[in-house]
Formats: sequence, structure tokens, C-alpha cells
Amino acid sequence: MSLQLGDPAPDFKAETTQGPIRFHEWIDGSWAVLFSHPKNFTPVCTTELGEVARLKPEFDKRGVKVIGLSVDPLAEHGVWAKDIEETQGHALNFPLIADPDRTVSDLYGMVHPNADDTLTVRSVFVIGPDRKLKLSINYPASTGRNFEEILRVIDSLQLTAHHSVATPVNWRQGDEVIIAPSLSDEQARERFPGGWKALKPYLRVTPQPRT
Ligand code: BEZ
Repeated sequence: MSLQLGDPAPDFKAETTQGPIRFHEWIDGSWAVLFSHPKNFTPVCTTELGEVARLKPEFDKRGVKVIGLSVDPLAEHGVWAKDIEETQGHALNFPLIADPDRTVSDLYGMVHPNADDTLTVRSVFVIGPDRKLKLSINYPASTGRNFEEILRVIDSLQLTAHHSVATPVNWRQGDEVIIAPSLSDEQARERFPGGWKALKPYLRVTPQPRT
């Protein structure tokens, strides 16, 4: 069965553009994003890796480590990295795993044989400091991802990890949040002394708590 939310993120050893790693040691108690792209020297992947390099300071600000993966060999990653910098204006500033034998891809279910039986799809895994899986999404090879959306989800994951709230549709940092339905009004009064708006008994909206 494929990896599900809440499952432990499998550990592995791999070669990367920044040297060999053991994944759990590399995570080292941080949040982490592991993402696959189907193939080196392909147009959509080139734009995605440039974008993740551009956004790296935003991941850093949130205490999130990022690591990419492709099933191509390490020697090719270095050559492609030059193309990424030349065309996207941002040099790779995070490690890229070389997974030619598909050890990591298979562990994380990144190859979807009915889509393509050799290349990975565009998977994203967000892993918490407890090394458990907090988010997984899969895009087809033909659709580049929106990494601003990944940052938005991380903001929600980090907020809801510390407060009994949930974030509504299209929520962004600073917007109102929803008090977790598991809290009674009495419990909510203790945690949200500023109060809330009850649009329905189950839909209680309150300002975003400070993280
Ligand atoms: C791309 O990154 O452009 C791509 C990769 C594999 C299949 C199709 C497109």
C-alpha cells in the first residue's frame, strides 16, 4: 500500500549533488520537503528546479529543508545544474538525489506505472520534525507544480501543529482561522480569550494565533 499521511517517512541512503546522505540524519529534526521530478534535461523540470532555488530563502525562513530527486545518475545532475542556472537565473542551492536504481522512488511510491513505468511522477512529500508524513501530492509529468502553494500548506501545517485550529479555503498567513471542531466552547474560551465569531455552532472563526 502506498504511503499515507501520518506514516513514518522511510529512511534511505542516497547519493546527492551535495554528497551522500542518510535521509533521517539529513532531516535532523527539521521539517523537510522531498520532491521528485521525472527526468533531467526536460523543460518543465528545469523551470521547477529554478523556482525551488529562488524560493529557498522562504523554505529556510520556515525551518524547512528541501531535497529533489530524479532517477538519472549523479554525473548528469551536475551538467543539468548549469542549464538550470543559465535559463532560470537561479543556481541549485539544495541537494538533488540521484536514484538510478529507483530505491528511493519505490520506497515512496513515486513511480506510477500506469502513467509511466520508468520515470517518476511529480511527487511532493512534506515531512514533520517527528519524521511523519504530513502531506503528499502527485502531479503528472506534463504539469509543473506551484511551489508557492507548497509554502502556503507548510504555513498551515506549522500553525495547526501548535494551535487547535484549522485553516479555511484559500487561507494565507495572517487570515482568520477556524477553531478546531474538537474543542468545546468552554475549552475554546480558555484558548482563545479574544473570542470568535460563530457563523454556525461548528464554524467558529477567530484571528490567527501568533506562532
Ligand atoms: C518536463 O519536465 O518537461 C517533462 C518531463 C517528462 C515528461 C514530460 C515533460
